[in-house]
Amino acid sequence: MGFSTDAIHVGQEPEPATGAIVAPIYQTSTYVQEKLGKDKGYDYARTNHPNRKALERCVAKLEGEQAAYVFTTGMAGIDAVFRLLRPGDHMILSEAVYGGVFRLTTKLLVHFGLEFNFVDTSNLEKLQAAIRPNTKMFYVETPTNPTMIVTDIAAVAKLAHSRNIRLVVDNTFLSPYFQQPISLGADIVVHSMTKYLNGHSDATGGAVILTRPEDAEQIYFIQRSAGAGLAPMDCFLVSRGIKTLAVRMERHDANGRKLAQYLERHPKVKRVIYPGLNSHPQHEMAKRQQKGFGAMLSFDLGSLEAARRLLDNVHLCSLAESLGGVETLISLPALMTHASIPPDVRLQIGITDGLVRLSVGIEDAEDLIADLEQAFSKV
Ligand SMILES: Cc1ncc(COP(=O)(O)O)c(C=O)c1O
Repeated sequence: MGFSTDAIHVGQEPEPATGAIVAPIYQTSTYVQEKLGKDKGYDYARTNHPNRKALERCVAKLEGEQAAYVFTTGMAGIDAVFRLLRPGDHMILSEAVYGGVFRLTTKLLVHFGLEFNFVDTSNLEKLQAAIRPNTKMFYVETPTNPTMIVTDIAAVAKLAHSRNIRLVVDNTFLSPYFQQPISLGADIVVHSMTKYLNGHSDATGGAVILTRPEDAEQIYFIQRSAGAGLAPMDCFLVSRGIKTLAVRMERHDANGRKLAQYLERHPKVKRVIYPGLNSHPQHEMAKRQQKGFGAMLSFDLGSLEAARRLLDNVHLCSLAESLGGVETLISLPALMTHASIPPDVRLQIGITDGLVRLSVGIEDAEDLIADLEQAFSKV
């Protein structure tokens, strides 16, 4: 079946007892057993429940795999993946990785005997040079948040596998509609489902999709042992959101291109970073690797003051963290999503104080441009 058909139907078969086309929300913590040792496939909601199973089947299918596990947030899923490592193991991450991943690794997991370092994963030579004898995992975000650097997944997968290293790709920014890292060689894909997969800014969630049965078994063990599996209501919401993923992504992509072109022409904008623009240094590679460019873009206004004026004067674009919802969100990474990264490191990786991030929603593009135009007049 095609992507849209799978997104609507996998895991969403009519409910057998009543024929309901939308699966009910199994809002229950426990399941009554017929007799000792005989249940109907579920025993306790931390371990599993029908809404989670349905969502996991769908997400696995969309990323082209058998096994997926869903968590309370993207960070909970990513944390579970990092627990595949053991004390003494080393991991290399994209240097402009999401601020929460930087915090989790450098402030928390480092105390559990894990070693991390951050390199520009779009540069294969630098990545290769950073490999140590104990390197067990590459963690790549592509495009990166918010610097929009694109990493060549197939090339990094080849390098990883030649050294017996697992490649994990965060596919949040593009969703499986525009990019399928496993088909390019990734071993594990993670998502913040809070973003495009749900798409309606009304639930948080994370997903881990796995190619190796032994990793899948371990992640399921972590999910049921540590207890961060996604709850029934949230699974229901994300499952509902995924049904419109394909049409939303098409519209996000069209709006993203229009806004990027508008911003690139604007005299008050110093630089626009969007892989869909010819001016993006990795435009050709993005075109090869991705089926679309999505709706995440960043632009530099040159100073914190100019950025602040813009953010204080937008009306339709909402000043908020997060991304990937139907509503357009605008943010200042240096003071918001990436504030946990030290200022010198932020600057080194290109997150300047005047860098504004836009998650372009699916409103009418003309209305978004009009809103930005009136806000620019006050900058
Ligand atoms: C690329 C990326 N990965 C992971 C996360 C973490 O997801 P969550 O906020 O659902 O924990 C985020 C959050 O913004 C993100 O942007």
